Amino acid sequence: MIRKTLNENKLPVSDRLIVALDYETEEAALAMVERLSGLLTTFKVGSQLFTKCGPGIVRKIHDAGGRVFLDLKFHDIPTTVAKAGIEAARLGVYMFNVHASGGATMMKRCMEMVGEACEREGLTRPCIIGVTLLTSICEETLRDDLGVTRAVSEQVVHFARLARENGLDGVVASVREVEAIRQACGKDFRIVTPGIRPSGASLDDQSRVATPGEALRQGSDYLVIGRPITAAPDPEKRVQEILQEMGKA
Ligand code: C5P
Repeated sequence: MIRKTLNENKLPVSDRLIVALDYETEEAALAMVERLSGLLTTFKVGSQLFTKCGPGIVRKIHDAGGRVFLDLKFHDIPTTVAKAGIEAARLGVYMFNVHASGGATMMKRCMEMVGEACEREGLTRPCIIGVTLLTSICEETLRDDLGVTRAVSEQVVHFARLARENGLDGVVASVREVEAIRQACGKDFRIVTPGIRPSGASLDDQSRVATPGEALRQGSDYLVIGRPITAAPDPEKRVQEILQEMGKA
């Protein structure tokens, strides 16, 4: 399987900070894109915004000069996930994700079919990322609800290895698992981390958090940050402070 050479380590910090557009309306989301697009490049569109606005929101973010991480966490039979991935590639997203718990065949088929479609149609293949375990899943949920006997950290590394073996470009994980994933999957494997809080910012509903500097020092490639930026009184200033902290790390 040909792994995409991303060379993202050479990217400036402004390409490594992804702002989560968790908004109810297109107007609010696009207003934030307008405000921030001179400072950074990538915006995350999740299930809420996508369900409300449809794929048009992605096109509008592209029109405004932004790149999109389409965070729809595909999880279905292999061909269905692969075909959804092809549509994401046709939309021109920079990155999308699939649940690693969908299994090896699902991830492999998605990589292969999206890769083939991109070659055939002359598209740039999006970066395809696996969701390891949702950070809302604790040891108890993993054991009692999902019937998995491994500890959370072991299960996360297991899924990261499985994603790598089946050709994915990287995974989403919490900062506390980054070091173990890096060790298991090597330096070219992309790690995307949410749960980031600049020192002094509100935790909101995140329980396990790290600062932007800590996340980068642990080996994270992309930081996903929502409310500390979108709910800040001065989002531009907040972004500048975060980028400065990332630059130092
Ligand atoms: O506002 P906040 O910075 O907490 O937003 C984090 C974003 O990352 C949200 O869009 C959330 O859905 C997403 N996310 C997360 N934890 C995960 C996976 C995704 O917080 N494990």
